[in-house]
Amino acid sequence: MSKPKVLVLKKLPETATAYISEYCEIIDGSSEESLSGEKLKHLLSNVEGLLQSGLKIDSELLESAPLLKIVSNVSVGYNNFDTEAMRKYGVVGTHTPYVLDDTVADLVITLMLSAARRVAELDKLVKQGEWRSDQVEELFGMDVHHATLGIIGMGRIGEAIAKRAKFGFDMKVLYSNRNRKPEVEEKYGVEYRTMDELIRESDFIALMAPLTSETHHLIKKEHFEQMKRTAIFINASRGQLVDEPALIEALEKRLIYAAGLDVFEQEPVEANNPLLKLPNVVTLPHIGSATAKTRISMAISAAQNLVAGVTGEVPPNIVPELK
Ligand code: 8YV
Repeated sequence: MSKPKVLVLKKLPETATAYISEYCEIIDGSSEESLSGEKLKHLLSNVEGLLQSGLKIDSELLESAPLLKIVSNVSVGYNNFDTEAMRKYGVVGTHTPYVLDDTVADLVITLMLSAARRVAELDKLVKQGEWRSDQVEELFGMDVHHATLGIIGMGRIGEAIAKRAKFGFDMKVLYSNRNRKPEVEEKYGVEYRTMDELIRESDFIALMAPLTSETHHLIKKEHFEQMKRTAIFINASRGQLVDEPALIEALEKRLIYAAGLDVFEQEPVEANNPLLKLPNVVTLPHIGSATAKTRISMAISAAQNLVAGVTGEVPPNIVPELK
């Protein structure tokens, strides 16, 4: 009995590759930088499974994959899935939740501390030999402890952030979300607000909502105008959730105090993006989940989803819209 063929478009740790090879014949496309067009369609023409991250899974791609049963994302986010089209073609989609919650939450707290205490800016000042003994107030930052954190999107990662903020920094934690989370309110003492109320009341605003057609440019110019002049804005979800020119204007005009960004509308971010020139912006290259341990867990989770999907099992992490 021949093993099902699967296309792997991402470099994987040995443990994940070994696991997949036990059950599948791997077509390795991980070395092809930007595999697209005819070459991709050719490779997709006779595979039952696809493992990748960030590849647009739409009707055009599915049309060229007649045998495809499952697409496995090596990410928790799945804004690359056209779930309507996938349902139409009978293709299941999976992602890698849970295994990265704490790692991403650590990064969000890091961005809050770095932006509030101007770590990147003042690290540069010291390294450029510009530290003088008469500098006092110009080195001041903002306190994180006992401030108010507003989390927009209270999912698993939002919860992990709330726990750190509440018990690690004695912060007042607010949240907005499509639906109320009474169990999280109970567990961490977080308070529900509408997004507008949260934006007006918070010292730190952490954007943790998933990117969907509804949440595209969720944060616009009018929202930055409602924020406190001392507010610090954090985005570690998806760049397209924010109207980036409005964010740039808010930072240039000091409508808000600072921002900590792990994601951008265009990734990698263009070298001439004004955000990169602003001293009150901490920028990171989408490293939310980037620890060796967590990335290995994500790869193994994605491998387990893939194998289940081509061996007639129910994959553990089907995205909600395709359950
Ligand atoms: C991924 C992420 O590393 O999981 C997600 O949704 O954004 C990151 O953890 C990124 O998508 C690249 O694969």
